[in-house]
Parts: sequence; structure tokens; C-alpha cells
Amino acid sequence: AREEEKAEEESSDLDSSDEEMDDSRMGNRRVEATNVSESKEPASSCQEKEVEEKKEMSEESGPARASSKKPSEPAIFISVDRLPEIQDSRLRLPVLAEEQVIMEAVRENSFVVLCGETGSGKTTQVPQFLYEAGYASGTGIIGVTEPRRVAAVSMSHRVAKEMNLSTRVVSYQIRYEGNVTSDTKIKFMTDGVLLKEIQKDFLLQRYSVIIIDEAHERSVYTDILIGLLSRIVPLRNKKGLPMKLIVMSATLRVEDFTENRKLFPTPPPVIKVEARQFPVSVHFNKRTPLEDYTGEVFHKTCKIHRMLPPGGILVFLTGQAEVHSVCRRLRRAFPFRRATDYSDEMKKFKKAKHKRTSLPRIDLDNYSALPVDEGDEDRLAGIDDEGSDLELGDDAADTEEKADPSLPLYVLPLYSLLAPEQQAKVFQPPPHGTRLCVVATNVAETSLTIPGIKYVVDCGRVKKRFYDRVTGVSSFKVSWTSQASANQRAGRSGRTEPGHCYRLYSSAVFGDFSLFSEAEITRRPVEDLVLQMKDLNIDKVVNFPFPTTPSAEALVAAEQLLVSLGALEEPPRTGRVKEMERARLSCPISPLGRAMASFPVSPRYAKMLALGKQQDCLPYVIAVVAAMTVREIFEDLDRPAGSEDESSKLAQRRARLAQMRRLWAGQGASLLLGDLMVLLGAVGACEFAGCTLKFCEENGLRYKAMLEIRRLRGQLTNAGVDLRVKCLLTEVGVQVVCLRQIVLAGLGDHLARRVQQEELLDPKWRNGYKTPLLDEPVYIHPSSALFKTLPQFVVYQEVLETTKMYMRGVSAVEPEWVPQLLTQYCHFGSPLETPSPWLCASTGRVKCHCTSTFFRCGWQLPAIEMD
Ligand code: CDP
Ligand code: MG
Repeated sequence: AREEEKAEEESSDLDSSDEEMDDSRMGNRRVEATNVSESKEPASSCQEKEVEEKKEMSEESGPARASSKKPSEPAIFISVDRLPEIQDSRLRLPVLAEEQVIMEAVRENSFVVLCGETGSGKTTQVPQFLYEAGYASGTGIIGVTEPRRVAAVSMSHRVAKEMNLSTRVVSYQIRYEGNVTSDTKIKFMTDGVLLKEIQKDFLLQRYSVIIIDEAHERSVYTDILIGLLSRIVPLRNKKGLPMKLIVMSATLRVEDFTENRKLFPTPPPVIKVEARQFPVSVHFNKRTPLEDYTGEVFHKTCKIHRMLPPGGILVFLTGQAEVHSVCRRLRRAFPFRRATDYSDEMKKFKKAKHKRTSLPRIDLDNYSALPVDEGDEDRLAGIDDEGSDLELGDDAADTEEKADPSLPLYVLPLYSLLAPEQQAKVFQPPPHGTRLCVVATNVAETSLTIPGIKYVVDCGRVKKRFYDRVTGVSSFKVSWTSQASANQRAGRSGRTEPGHCYRLYSSAVFGDFSLFSEAEITRRPVEDLVLQMKDLNIDKVVNFPFPTTPSAEALVAAEQLLVSLGALEEPPRTGRVKEMERARLSCPISPLGRAMASFPVSPRYAKMLALGKQQDCLPYVIAVVAAMTVREIFEDLDRPAGSEDESSKLAQRRARLAQMRRLWAGQGASLLLGDLMVLLGAVGACEFAGCTLKFCEENGLRYKAMLEIRRLRGQLTNAGVDLRVKCLLTEVGVQVVCLRQIVLAGLGDHLARRVQQEELLDPKWRNGYKTPLLDEPVYIHPSSALFKTLPQFVVYQEVLETTKMYMRGVSAVEPEWVPQLLTQYCHFGSPLETPSPWLCASTGRVKCHCTSTFFRCGWQLPAIEMD
């Protein structure tokens, strides 16, 4: 008892928040008060050693030398004043039963892996355990990373509510917003936010614990954070500033972390939380719809709602557009007119002070600004046909309870970019007498648990980023998900009672799914990651302890591209071959590279932005980069027409778009910026018109793409106030030349040269272009602004294969710019005799003309002046 008193005294000294100690909790635990994160070394001396430490990380010795085992670290206890109903619901969570085991493991080890079914309480409870154990009572706070913004925001609110603390104490930070204060003790953030913080303070001295949540998702930033923290934690321990890392994951393949000796020399303890899961009957479709799976999802959901007993429905789709389209159709199919218990909406309605005489029709459709998918109306007409191919499982039909066909359907969308207030709705009970139906992307797969779900409808697909090795451009594509993900989706229906999962594909198709989803890092080019790491002074990226290492080719290609963009210092060209090889893979970052690393776009575009800033034409470069990042800004008007009437309308619109393209391409000097001038003109015109749906429809622009461009421009400008592109009126010529040079500097490896008349051995090369990477000719598309001009040299954004290999995003290049701006890609010959060398008065050096060739393919370029 004496010891306890002493502990209390000491701990209350350390605890600045004046919380009362909870004696009852202390009884059965070891109590010795030490501040877990008290600094024993002045901060300045820590910083001095930092650079040295980062170097250590990339040294070949690799694995951390400091042992991950630490002597028992005692803790203090902070009481939390929870509301009784919260306390009750907490006690039902499986993770509560493991609190002792988890906290014991955390005290004894620097690294702990915790895995458990989604919904077992990991995300909401573990930060609370740590808080109560005093991990946030000193100078250090508890940090929790999430791969998704939705989760970071909603979990911080949930935990604040459970702990009865204000959001000043339990806060969140996502890229462009947050509510962190100096009182924050638990901070939820996206993994990207923590990575940026490491760039500022490598030892993360603000934190006493970091929880990496949803590690099974294997997002690139999560992987890198785990690699970095596997080194940072031992460094902190060595300095006497103890720090803990807890990796939390759903029950999926934790071996990638635990069995990786490069990452953790001694395997960290793995704590498994057994969750109660009710049986889920899985029903496969007999056939697999390949085209209109959203239609199939819609029909299946209607059918469940009409025929099956009460219970929430959770629908999995791949993206925001699909979610909206299905929500809209469901809302139309099951209109929701009785305003009995919609107090929320009523309040909002009254606030808005609408003047209406009759009872208001509650507008649950908050997305009227977005276009309805065409054809929806027609398909809606047929919803009452009960398609015989739609089978609901036998087990479902056996259930005693009967469905109530008049039950209204309360439809809610859920996806990452949805406004937080809208997201929060899915956690609240649906209005009395309605059935909840959440139409979600895969955010609902593991990050968020929606209460009361009994039926899951799974489209079996997922939207993923893909990388095209030929064009070097990434894109989002919809593909089949993995078996692990599909099972995870099914499990969402068995949380509170036995559930049913309807898979809209056959069991044979399921058998062909891969077992697990691949780690994102193996599916994409890594030049942006390599640049971020170099920005952290991790020069030898090959030695970095990745949970899954990207391929060696991918790393080499990334390093080469970054060197040629000038983001990395050039490796020495003399010395022993082996040393040169090694130096080639550990080039330090250059000042330009640092500037580039601060932009959230891929390095080619970041280079353009950095140059744009330097050349004082940033708004234009931002507009061009944003437009190039969005996949297609023009409406597809080449689609087949359904009727004669439609066909003539399409022809009219095609003519209008062609006219607008010509207008946006400009004349004279600006025409040479080519397709990028068209993009710039379109963005400028659309902004000038207020970025309305009407303007886009009239001029053949995709409204959604234009909204996305606007958002990205806002992000890149980091102000989002005046988004108008100023008209290129003054000195158009100079500005356009500047933009063309900037584009060349960024896309230098995408240079193409027109085939000369004398090289025309094969007619297929007529009007064709040669590129360094492809053996076949590529062409300028008839819709391109440069189709008639056919400049000698062009740079392109990507090559797209349709009927021919066409270059997209083409811009003309003056031949003499190539040896000047792309010296890294050129060979220079011996000095020319005429004109003879001369002395440069300003530099005092001898100058001469030298021949140059584009070394990748030996193209002759104009001779340039050299020292
Ligand atoms: O992280 P994990 O998946 O293990 O579980 P969690 O996210 O901590 O959720 C634990 C429980 O809290 C679940 O049963 C959720 O339904 C519930 N919860 C909630 O009711 N409202 C929220 N905003 C978040 C979670
Ligand atoms: Mg969780």
C-alpha cells in the first residue's frame, strides 16, 4: 500500500492533466511510476545525431542492433470517466478480454503485433488502454495511423465520445484538415501524415507510442512506416526515450511482418483476439455478369429488401460513381416519403428555413449536383420484374420471420471522400421502421464496422491502381478482388446474428481469385517512394527493410529516372566498376529533389511544378499537371448511337467539341504547346464559366473530371481561393515557350522523333514517330492539335493503343532544346572547327560548338555551344 501511495504521488507529478487516479484499477497491477516518454537528453543533441542515424538505417548491416526486448516498463494509470452505456457496450468487445495480455506485452516489448477480426475493438479500444496506462501522460502522445481518411476522422470522434473527452484531446489530422491542439493526447492520422512528420522529426519525439492500424491493407505508406519505425524505435530506446510500436491487423497474413528478419531481428509477440462471429451463409450466383454488375447489384438488393426478414444490407461496389448510381436507383425504387422519425433531417430542414405549405419531402439525396448515369431511368422501369436468375438462398427462405414489403429502405452511401457528417450517419441507428442499406466501396471491408448488418451483397470487384510498363503511366482499373477480401466482406454480415452473403459471381470465378491481395508496393512504379525516402536522407533504398521489397528492376528504374530528372545527385562516372555500380544505387537527393518531394504528384510532374515555381508560371503548370493527372477530360463522343436521332445529336456534339478544341489550341506560338494547350484552354474556360455541369455538357467536357481537376488544383495551389487561370494575353509567345520547355524537362524520357522521308522503308512508318522504348511507330492522333503540324520532335504524356499506337498529350519540341535541357540523355561529340572556338568574355572560358546525339537511339541533334 505504501508503494502505491508513493506511486500515486510521483505519477500525479508527471501527469499534467490533473486527472484523478483510479485506485480500484491499480489494485491488481504492478505499480511503479515512471514517465514513459520523459526526455533524458536535450532535444538539440538528439537532432545533431539524427543525420548520422538515418545513414545507419540504410547501411548494409541492415537489421537494428538494439534488442527489441526491454526490461519491464511499469506504467501509471489514468482514469477515464465513461458513460455507463458506453462502458456496457465496451465490455462486449472481444478485445476487452485481452487488455491485460496486450498491455503486458506492450510493457515488455518494443514491438507488438495485434491481430483480430474486424469489429473486435482494436482501433477504438487499444488507444484507450494505452491512455489509461499513462502512455500519454508525459510529453509523448499516442499516435494512430490509418490508411484511409474516413477511418482517421470517424475513429477519433468515436474514441473521444467513448472516453467522454473533447476532440481537443482525442483529435485527428488528415492531409488538409485536422483538429489537433496542444492538449491532444491521442492523435488519429493518415499514414501519409505521419510519414511527413518523420521528415520533420526523424525520432518522432512527440510520440510515446505509434499504432499502425489496418496493416493488412498493405498500403505503400503503411509498409514504409513499419520499415522506418523498425529502426526508429530501437534508436529511441538507445537514447533512453522509450517508444513502442503496435502493428494492428485483421486476421490476414501477419507473417510478412513477423517472419521478416530484416524488419524485426527477433520476432515480435503476436496477440490474437478471438472474436465472436456468427455463421454466414454464402450464396454464389450461377452466372457471372461481366458488363452491368451495378445493375445486378441493384436488382439483388431490391430482391433482398422485398423478400427477406429485417436486417441491414451492406453493398460492396468499387467506386464513388457506382455507389451514387446504385444509391440513386434504390432511392427511386423504394421512395422514402413518410417523415415519421427523421428528426435529424427535420431539424436541418427547419434550420434552412424553407417556406413550404405542405409537409416537406425529405431530401435524402444530397448529390443532385452529380449527373445520373444514363439509362438509369429505363432500367428503373423494369424493377418489378422478378428475374428468375436471381436466387436467394434456401436458408434465407426458411427463416421464420417474414419480410415486410412496405418497409422503407434507408439508403446511405459510404466511401472515402464522402463528407464526414455523411459518413457518420452509417453508425447511427436507421430511422424507426426502416431498413438500413449502406452502399459502400471497400472502406467498409475492414476499416469501419457498421452495426446491424445481416445481408452483404458483393460485386466481387475492387478498383485498384495499375501500372503500365510500356507507357509508364498508372491508372485505376476495376478487377476481381482476392479470396481473402471476399471472405472479409462476407464476414461483415455475421457480426450480431447469423448472416447471408450474396456473391454476384459464380463459385468457379471465386476459385480463380488470388488468395490474398498483393501488397500495393509490388504493383506500381516506385520513383515517388524512392524520392520520399531520399528526402528522409535514406540513400541506400535497396537496403531499406520493406515488409515486401519492390523488384530490383523497379528500384533501379526509379533511381535512374530520378537522376535524369535532376532530383538526385549524379553518381560519379569514374572509379572501379563495382564502386560505380554501388554509387549508382545510393545517390543523395539534390536541392531540386527536395522541392519536388514537397509536391503530392509523381516526380515527372513534380519537376514541372518545381520549374514552374522557379520560372514564375506556376498557375499554368498546375493547371496542365492537374489536367494530365486526370485520365480523360473529354467526353467519349465516338460511342455508337442508339437511334438515328441520337446519332445526329452526337454528330453535332462532336463538331462542337472539335471546334472548341481548335479554339483552345490557339494559334501561332500557343499552337505548339499542342494538346497541353488544349487542356490549359479547357481548364481556363471551364473555370471562367464557374465549372458548371451545363458548361461541361455543352462543350464536350467530362464534368466529373473537371471537378477533380479543380480539387487537385486547389490542393496544389494550397489555397483554393482564386482558381481562375489568368488569360495568356501578355507576351503569349514567351510564356508558351517557357511552358513547352518545362514540359520537355519533365517528360524528357517520352521524346519522339518524326520519321524522315529517306527512312521510309515501310509504308507503315508514314507520318509515324520513333520513340526510344518502342520498336513500332507511334502516331499523332487525328484529334490532336498537332495532327496537321507533325513537328519534327514531340514529347508525349503516354502511348495508348487503339486501332494504332497513338501518343496522347503531345507537345512540340524545338530540336535545339533537347541537348540544352536534356543533357543527361545526350552524347556530345568533339568540337566543330567552324565556327572556330572563341573566348567567352563573361566566364573567361573557351567556348565551341559541339555535335550532339540523343544517346538512347543515336538521333542527330543540332550542335550546341559548350565550354
Ligand atoms: O478495429 P476493429 O475492427 O477491431 O474494431 P473497432 O473499429 O474498434 O470497432 C469496435 C466496435 O465499435 C464495433 O462493433 C463497431 O460497431 C463499434 N463502433 C461504433 O459503434 N461506432 C463507431 N463510430 C465506430 C465503432
Ligand atoms: Mg479497426
